[in-house]
Amino acid sequence: MAAQKITAATVRDDFNDPVAVIHYARAAHHLGLWASERTLIERYFTDPAAPLLEAGCGAGRATLGLWDAGYQNLTAFDFATELLDQARSLAAERDAAAIRFIHADATALKKCQLIGDTAYGGALFLFNGLMQIPGRENRRAALRGLHELCRPGAPLLFTTHDREQNQVERALWRLEALRWERGEQDPRLLEFGDRYFEEAGTGRTFMHLPDRAEILADLSATGWTHTYDALRKVVAKESRAVRDFSDECRFWVAHKI
Ligand SMILES: C[S@@+](CC[C@H](N)C(=O)[O-])C[C@H]1O[C@@H](n2cnc3c(N)ncnc32)[C@H](O)[C@@H]1O
Repeated sequence: MAAQKITAATVRDDFNDPVAVIHYARAAHHLGLWASERTLIERYFTDPAAPLLEAGCGAGRATLGLWDAGYQNLTAFDFATELLDQARSLAAERDAAAIRFIHADATALKKCQLIGDTAYGGALFLFNGLMQIPGRENRRAALRGLHELCRPGAPLLFTTHDREQNQVERALWRLEALRWERGEQDPRLLEFGDRYFEEAGTGRTFMHLPDRAEILADLSATGWTHTYDALRKVVAKESRAVRDFSDECRFWVAHKI
């Protein structure tokens, strides 16, 4: 029987799995914003009163971090209901009930009237959430949807892995390219750059790893103007706890001109 391709439902089920829920809830309670996130948010999201939209908020790690940093006009959404429940209960505990948590799919934002009722002054899709959407057209749909919801001038901040970030990655991806040429790749994957793996304590993860050219093309195709990108280690030195929670990544900032 042919292997089933990974779909949005696969990803959603993996995030609703108790192993993932515990992992992300723990981070929401104890980790908060990374130093690099804080640096770039302060640099590019200069109006704390502006309505902000956070995509893929999960259990609320960054959402509550934004709230604590003074950004209190927040709408945060995710398609994994178990994670959203965690985020809502953490917000209630921290007197942050004014945060709007909404169940929505980033690839179909037009369908969500609750999100569409505001012109946002900025959008965030942190910790590689955008790259957990299977299929490049679907990732572009998410970027387009966020663009439509933002005001002119609004910043977008997100992260990805970078498959060209060092020699080891480049060598591994050359081997993977050979597998794709021979048709020997994991048959559940959709596109070159995809990975699907399982880690103890985190659960199953689908992730698309782009190269820089791919993201630049996707931003331009969806109306965003690229402003900045850099590896996380260039932006800030992270604590051991953050490095244990998350690998190196590339930050991207774009604007709606
Ligand atoms: C790596 S987690 C990050 C969670 C949280 N932002 C954090 O930093 O702890 C990625 C999040 O993106 C969400 N996500 C992935 N695809 C999505 C989609 N199509 N629509 C909405 N949320 C999505 C997942 O459910 C998950 O909560």
